[in-house]
Amino acid sequence: MATSQEQLKQRAAQAAFDLVKEQLPKQAVIGIGTGSTVNYFIDLLAEIKDDIDAAVSSSEASTARLKQHGIPVLDLNAVSEVPIYVDGADEIDEHLRMVKGGGGALTREKIIAAVADTFICIVDSSKQVGRLGSFPIPVEVVPMARSYVGREIVKLGGDPVWREGVVTDNGNWIIDVHNFDILDPIHLEQQLNSIVGVVTNGLFAQRGANIAIVADENGIQTIK
Ligand code: 5RP
Repeated sequence: MATSQEQLKQRAAQAAFDLVKEQLPKQAVIGIGTGSTVNYFIDLLAEIKDDIDAAVSSSEASTARLKQHGIPVLDLNAVSEVPIYVDGADEIDEHLRMVKGGGGALTREKIIAAVADTFICIVDSSKQVGRLGSFPIPVEVVPMARSYVGREIVKLGGDPVWREGVVTDNGNWIIDVHNFDILDPIHLEQQLNSIVGVVTNGLFAQRGANIAIVADENGIQTIK
């Protein structure tokens, strides 16, 4: 019987958990991303909650799930070191550059990724792409800048679509950008960041993952 996408997400989370158990220093703070794949990881993390100091979390949803398991969650401002950050992705390429933010948590995800020493990305193989950009690039904007940012994005060659009704954990809005022809993800990430009113964007190219754990029908592939 074919393995479902959920089973593959679970498999990737299990492999990351095995790696974290091996590599995370005792009583360290672990960084936790957002999404359905990470949810499986959080559920596993509960098994070793006494061996970790606490977590820092990239969303209110992940924070709630961590707390349900009795895992303390710290404010990132109280933490100087995050040895490992575990998160999913919407797309990942062979250089471990990613598109993230399908769940709208991109800004806090990018902040924790910046602090972390090692970013472990956990995905099922459907997320692997030759070139980033089939998945629309989420851009978090200050609400009053939405139309202006949209017009600037059109000048860069993208088709902006407002994710209407969604408010991020930071009180901002999301624009999903379709049809970007992404030849240089780092350059586009910088261009989007330089539009006034943009908080952050879902291209994780300047700071990609260090390790990708990809689950497919045949098992796990670990890419560094
Ligand atoms: C949330 C994210 C997620 O990592 C991404 O959307 C993947 O989610 P899932 O594991 O549910 O497929 O970036 O902002």
